[in-house]
Amino acid sequence: MLRCFDEQEDARLRGQELNLAIVDAADPDHVWGKASLYDVDLDEARAAVACWLAPHARGRGVATRTLRLLAQWAFDSLAIARLELTCAPDNVASQSVAERCGFVREGVLRSHIRFKGERRDTVVFSLLPGELR
Ligand SMILES: CC(C)(COP(=O)(O)OP(=O)(O)OC[C@H]1O[C@@H](n2cnc3c(N)ncnc32)[C@H](O)[C@@H]1OP(=O)(O)O)[C@@H](O)C(=O)NCCC(=O)NCCS
Repeated sequence: MLRCFDEQEDARLRGQELNLAIVDAADPDHVWGKASLYDVDLDEARAAVACWLAPHARGRGVATRTLRLLAQWAFDSLAIARLELTCAPDNVASQSVAERCGFVREGVLRSHIRFKGERRDTVVFSLLPGELR
């Protein structure tokens, strides 16, 4: 189950970002992780998506289900035409989840971000309406 963070309401109302807690449907106080729709540009119909899970919640399909729900909602409710997912080149779990959902790997953005005092490459994936699996 996905729940909105009250303190993130301003960003949601500005149409820029949606940050959600991933919680156990049977015990909503039990938080499994967080999912975000960010860099939302409604004029260009683009957004990016990301997901983080606590170690105890990994390896049982929670991230895959979360990304599918959020992507479907972004396509249906926000008319998003391109959804991006980026991650570190060695983040195998994240890339597996992206490909399982139908995201297409587009390539590597070299020296893309600052990370722990160095610069780091980023792998970029995209998902278009109709490609969600
Ligand atoms: C990236 C991350 C979210 C992926 O979580 P995850 O638990 O590997 O992903 P899922 O919840 O979809 O689980 C997938 C695994 O569960 C298994 N699984 C079990 N039931 C499943 C189901 N119904 N549907 C999909 N997968 C299922 C799959 O076989 C898969 O295992 P595999 O990767 O060995 O093939 C998690 O590792 C994480 O939070 N990492 C740290 C933060 C991070 O890097 N975030 C990425 C930013 S985008």
